[in-house]
Amino acid sequence: MNVPFADLHAQYLGIKNEIDAAIADVIGTSAFIRGPHVQRFEEAFADMMQVKHCVSCANGTDSLYIAMHALGVKPGDEVIAPAHSWISTTETITQAGGNVVFCDTDANTFTIDPAKIEALITPRTVGIIPVHLYGQPADMGAIMAIARKHKLWVIEDCAQAHLATFDGRQVGTFGDAASFSFYPGKNLGAMGDAGAVCANDPKLAERMAMFARHGGLVKGDHQIEGINSRLDGLQAAILSVKLPHLRRWTQERQRVAARYGELLAGIEGLTLPQVAPARAHVWHLYVVQHERRDALAKHLNGLGIQTAINYPVALPFVPAYQRLGHVPADFPNAHRQQSRILSIPLFPEMSEAQMDAVATGLRSFAG
Ligand SMILES: Cc1ncc(COP(=O)(O)O)c(C=O)c1O
Repeated sequence: MNVPFADLHAQYLGIKNEIDAAIADVIGTSAFIRGPHVQRFEEAFADMMQVKHCVSCANGTDSLYIAMHALGVKPGDEVIAPAHSWISTTETITQAGGNVVFCDTDANTFTIDPAKIEALITPRTVGIIPVHLYGQPADMGAIMAIARKHKLWVIEDCAQAHLATFDGRQVGTFGDAASFSFYPGKNLGAMGDAGAVCANDPKLAERMAMFARHGGLVKGDHQIEGINSRLDGLQAAILSVKLPHLRRWTQERQRVAARYGELLAGIEGLTLPQVAPARAHVWHLYVVQHERRDALAKHLNGLGIQTAINYPVALPFVPAYQRLGHVPADFPNAHRQQSRILSIPLFPEMSEAQMDAVATGLRSFAG
């Protein structure tokens, strides 16, 4: 049995009539840029994320850049970010004019290790960007305590974690700003690139909106130089159709993860993902670890089971950051995990037969 890594077409078929009608509505009204669809989505998304303001933009990467620009990052400022993430988290620090300071991840959760943050703080440190990687919240209790103590801002990178909670509170509500991606494969995905940045502080939200829209809130009124980063009407309408389904899809992801926990228990050599206390994981990705990861991936792929590696090389060791001169001992957990991690299929529409096929594939490798 072939098992895809994700099945976006199955999701579309489940809501086809609503999506098709929403697209037709945007085309019928020619509301392609800003307009009512974008405004409706911003309001509905802020509401579901339990924050006061949502500034939509072109993609999740821009949302990080926009937040950092609005928070006033300037040359020489240092920003602490996890050694294990997608490069958007850190390339935007550089784009905003800051310096990237990597912190190792926790051995079990793949999220930034708060115990290692304080040693990295210098007089030039201005902020921390925890990433709720794979859908598991970072330790926001410890991170916010450090941020308050040292007067640092926090941008939560929620690209993979819509609706995840820490201590019963939704991610994106802890920091000064929260960045979201609606890349098609994300838990809430558009049909193209899209993103948003959320905040409770109206002044920060206004600065972010202004920067994202050529430096002005009203067309032609350029208070500052900005950028052009817009969510278009089609994506907004599509996202508005999908948003009410997000909780159900999240529960389906949690169902699959729980079933995997039963099916994959006790397979020799296979480490299953762990959920730390006080977290509700939303399973953007189900990431196992194995000493012979590449052979395991080949075995599964040979059986028709798609896998992915998120991500093959920890950020301090990609060529883009060679200039920082890091060695594996600087980030022992992130470095060890980079050769062991394997993402296996997980999507809300996954059937019992598909999960069984994955489990059988993993067992046959071990056996
Ligand atoms: C952790 C993380 N941060 C940021 C992003 C950037 O999002 P986008 O691809 O929408 O620019 C992504 C998604 O790729 C991500 O996974």
